Amino acid sequence: MAKDPYLELLKEAMERAYAPYSGFPVGAVVKSNSGKLYSGTNMENAAYPQGWCAETSAIAAMVMAGEQQLVEVAVMAEGEKPCPPCGGCRQKLWEFALPGTRVLVYSPQGLKASWLLENLLPHAFGGDQLK
Ligand code: THU
Repeated sequence: MAKDPYLELLKEAMERAYAPYSGFPVGAVVKSNSGKLYSGTNMENAAYPQGWCAETSAIAAMVMAGEQQLVEVAVMAEGEKPCPPCGGCRQKLWEFALPGTRVLVYSPQGLKASWLLENLLPHAFGGDQLK
């Protein structure tokens, strides 16, 4: 069986979490349309609303590398229930997503769930509305 491309990267990203307030480390990896992978982790702040989600960090890494289209995003957290991207991250992912962009959700044990982003954010607001 082919090796999962995300599992180890997600674990590494999760280990770098700065989550002293929630104690809930999250790792994320986005795959751009060139096939490159960009990792991110959550980064909290004593002023709680200033914290960043893992997905946001991964998107920022992709954009900083000069890429602006993502075809897949993988997220990892502990817990029985899969940890899907929060509402704000769905919107941030949508900004750079393509039709068919998929969201894969992992625990450290492996893949737990997979959805199309368009099903996690139906009737999405996007740049087209502003034209
Ligand atoms: N968190 C993420 O990094 N991604 C999500 O999609 C859900 C929540 C982080 C934010 C915060 O640091 C911690 O998880 C608890 O909410």
